[in-house]
Amino acid sequence: MKKPTKVTLTFDNDLAPIELPILSGKLGPDVIDIRNLGKHGIFTYDPGFLSTASCSSAITFIDGDEGLLYYRGYPIEQLAQHCDFMEVSYLLIHGELPNSDQKKSFTETITKHTMVHDQMTNLFRGFRRDAHPMAVMVGVIGSMSAFYHDAMDIRDSDSREMLAYRLIAKVPTVAAWSYKYNMGQPFMYPRNNFNYAENFMHMMFANPCEDYTPNPILAKALDRILILHADHEQNASTSTVRLAGSSGANPFACIAAGIASLWGPAHGGANEAVLKMLEEIGDISNIGKFIERAKDKSDSFRLMGFGHRVYKNIDPRATMMRQTCHEVLEELGLGDDPLFKVAMELERIALEDEYFISKRLYPNVDFYSGIVLRAMGVPTNMFTAIFALARTVGWAAQWNEMISDPEAKIGRPRQLYTGEIRRAFVTLDKR
Ligand code: SDX
Repeated sequence: MKKPTKVTLTFDNDLAPIELPILSGKLGPDVIDIRNLGKHGIFTYDPGFLSTASCSSAITFIDGDEGLLYYRGYPIEQLAQHCDFMEVSYLLIHGELPNSDQKKSFTETITKHTMVHDQMTNLFRGFRRDAHPMAVMVGVIGSMSAFYHDAMDIRDSDSREMLAYRLIAKVPTVAAWSYKYNMGQPFMYPRNNFNYAENFMHMMFANPCEDYTPNPILAKALDRILILHADHEQNASTSTVRLAGSSGANPFACIAAGIASLWGPAHGGANEAVLKMLEEIGDISNIGKFIERAKDKSDSFRLMGFGHRVYKNIDPRATMMRQTCHEVLEELGLGDDPLFKVAMELERIALEDEYFISKRLYPNVDFYSGIVLRAMGVPTNMFTAIFALARTVGWAAQWNEMISDPEAKIGRPRQLYTGEIRRAFVTLDKR
């Protein structure tokens, strides 16, 4: 069928019809260009942006019905199988997979920027020891604009590239140190002889009293987890980074805003919530009552790790996370891990339940990631911090795409006003 190129709004009063163009992307649904609608004195209403494209982007594509996810056109399955996180980071930032020289140079640059300004170590000490690592990350990453003035000219492409590299390199150090501070252990400095995932494991699990060798299977699994979480179109935290960045705010503050948004249990905080839910379920015999609770509208309980705004089919990342989960548990001799068994059975039952089928609720990326990370020795309160660590490259790529877009404007949504109409002021003595 021929694709429409315009739509005409007609009104049931004497308002003149309004013609609006329809735009097509390279993939995915067409969009109605309503940029000039406001000039006619009428706006669209779409809380939560259920049907609204907030920008054009060439970075990531999702097909929710088919369960497809592409980074710069490459299917996530191919990238997760054949690349490491450095290659995928280069791809997201620069738009092409690196050749050997480009990969070597990129990796060396990232490696050389993993240290943070030593004065930043004092910032951690301002927090209580039991502060959630995500609270520490929001604060410390947000403070980085006070330490890295030299490359803050966001209108300069080289400066933007340096900002992205610094963020990709330093967020793992801040994340790992948030954990070390939580544990009351000394900070472990990055080591240039480790790859990205090994370095993070070193900063998390090593201590100054003994040598540490990362388990290569677990490092590879962590690297794959980072690839799967790297970017995801205009999700809540990415949209937060874009909106914050649209005012010209410094990118460290924008990424800190993204971290804050990701922390929510409806978003990146779900991986932590999934594990708490699985521990609460405890045994396969309890699954039924939790499924019923998830279906009960009077109960606020939701099946964490299930459902998605875009995927109305299984999240392709969940499939790969399940496989990674199985590999890691086998490697660690935890093949009969009770939580994994509960998760697998919960998935099976939910996918056969009419409620979940009718609402097209499938496992998302957060459903299995927590089990893998827990098996690797990562504490639950660090799950979302690792999600933030991975998503930093996506946030940086999306921020850079927006800032370098000549059409970029400050984000300023309108509203449907439902408050009081004009009222006469009443002085205090008469109230
Ligand atoms: C991430 O956007 C992204 O791309 C995010 C992300 C990324 O990589 O950036 O993919 C990462 O955030 C994954 C999602 C992690 N969150 C969770 O697992 C939390 C549990 N899921 C739900 O909170 C929910 O599914 C959302 C928030 C993920 C999506 O919510 P929507 O799109 O706003 O859908 P909705 O809340 O309107 O739900 C539609 C219906 C409702 O029932 P009705 O009102 O139509 O009767 O489905 C029900 C909901 O009650 N529903 C659930 C459910 N999720 C939705 N019922 C039980 N359990 C659930 N998990």
